[in-house]
Amino acid sequence: MSRFATGVAVVTARAPDGTRHGMTVNSFTSVSLDPPLLLVCLTTGARSTEAVTGAGRFAVSFLSARQQHIALRFARRGEDHFAGLPADDGEHSLPVVPGALAHLVCDVDRHLVAGDHVVVVGRVREMCDRPGEPLAFFGGRFTEVALQHEEAPLWSF
Ligand SMILES: Cc1cc2nc3c(=O)[nH]c(=O)nc-3n(C[C@H](O)[C@H](O)[C@H](O)COP(=O)(O)O)c2cc1C
Repeated sequence: MSRFATGVAVVTARAPDGTRHGMTVNSFTSVSLDPPLLLVCLTTGARSTEAVTGAGRFAVSFLSARQQHIALRFARRGEDHFAGLPADDGEHSLPVVPGALAHLVCDVDRHLVAGDHVVVVGRVREMCDRPGEPLAFFGGRFTEVALQHEEAPLWSF
């Protein structure tokens, strides 16, 4: 799997008791445009997984090339990932990563257990984005993407 280059995102949710949780993921996939669906694969039993499935809502923040420290912060098991982070809840009452390239706010459409992960399909309810360069992950390392700025986008979805 590590030979497949991906972006890096943080899945965040507020557990039914109000606690904020978040987890770094690279298993993000766009699923459907109409309706707008995406999926993430989350470790069974992880705090963030329980929060996402328990609350039925979550947010995905796409990390920028300058946010490797955020990816590391949200990958540490058993820590309060939000400690000292000025994360805004916004109108949707979900914590999101400040300064990320995009935020997608989702309702859980369905979820299913697959091996040691839970595949969570989210229906996008809100989104916002900002300019910037993406953080990438390849071969077990963070890396950056060499964008060909002189060319117009070929596709947009
Ligand atoms: C680049 C990167 C990508 C990751 N992708 C995933 C993923 O897609 N799914 C997952 O369950 N864990 C993934 N992890 C591991 C989780 O971020 C890590 O286990 C996290 O601390 C679990 O959160 P928890 O504290 O809620 O248990 C990834 C870690 C890194 C560094």
